[in-house]
Amino acid sequence: MDNSWIKAKVAIVTGGASGIGQAIAMEAARMGAISVIADIDEEKGLQTAASIKEDGGKAHYIRTDVTSTESALTLRAKAKELGPIQFLANSAGLQTYGTVDSTSEESWNKTLDVNLKSMFLVSKQILPEIRSNGGGGIVHISSIQGMRCQKNVLAYATAKGAVIAMTRSMGLDHAAEGIFVNCICPGSIDTPLLRYGAGQHGPVEEVLKEWGNHHPIGRIGTATEIAKTTLFLWSPNSNFIVGQSIVADGGLGSIIL
Ligand SMILES: NC(=O)c1ccc[n+]([C@@H]2O[C@H](COP(=O)([O-])OP(=O)(O)OC[C@H]3O[C@@H](n4cnc5c(N)ncnc54)[C@H](O)[C@@H]3O)[C@@H](O)[C@H]2O)c1
Repeated sequence: MDNSWIKAKVAIVTGGASGIGQAIAMEAARMGAISVIADIDEEKGLQTAASIKEDGGKAHYIRTDVTSTESALTLRAKAKELGPIQFLANSAGLQTYGTVDSTSEESWNKTLDVNLKSMFLVSKQILPEIRSNGGGGIVHISSIQGMRCQKNVLAYATAKGAVIAMTRSMGLDHAAEGIFVNCICPGSIDTPLLRYGAGQHGPVEEVLKEWGNHHPIGRIGTATEIAKTTLFLWSPNSNFIVGQSIVADGGLGSIIL
């Protein structure tokens, strides 16, 4: 694909220090973007930026707590100095477990703050920059668990379902401005977050293999696969897709048994 639409544009990726966000930051830089890794994990954020630069790409780490307006303001101010901001991927997230009985109010608040409110706070700062630069794309990373879910994930599934509704709303509000907002609902993707979850159920490699077998495709997904879907949704090739939730789950969400 021609890369003139993204070359030398700033692409901000929250959660860009690990997993899906890291893969998006790498793929964006490979396409010629200036990738901004907005993550709370400074060590991994700096490492990711360094590794992108070693591969010949452009990348900067900006320490960001996506649950804080002050931090989102700093992200905006620092990122706009790097070039025209036109792309945003909201990938920062965390997995929590619990039912209505076992989820504490503190865990509920944290899960919704990091997985949902963060996308509002960061979009609130970054969308006006995208608008003033003539438009672009925003991709939120939801989850197949926003549509169907396993047991014991009350707060996480609630947040991910709300991201789908938020995406629809933002998509409608900003399409005419040339700002295309969509979300991706991944199935199981091999990242540190998934490995943490697998570890709760048994030996990690065995659990990942078993989960892979639950996906009709016969395996779990890779972060690069979600990154490539993100780049497609940012690109002009998808400009008639507005406010949608793209399921990238190897068929997991479509089976009955
Ligand atoms: N891995 C999967 O199977 C899977 C499936 C569906 C959806 N998702 C979603 O994809 C997104 C990325 O998940 P992942 O698997 O890459 O996880 P990950 O744990 O590998 O990466 C998440 C990143 O978010 C960052 N982060 C957490 N809290 C933050 C905060 N307050 N401020 C800034 N950064 C913060 C972490 O430091 C980390 O770098 C999440 O929203 C997750 O819910 C993942």
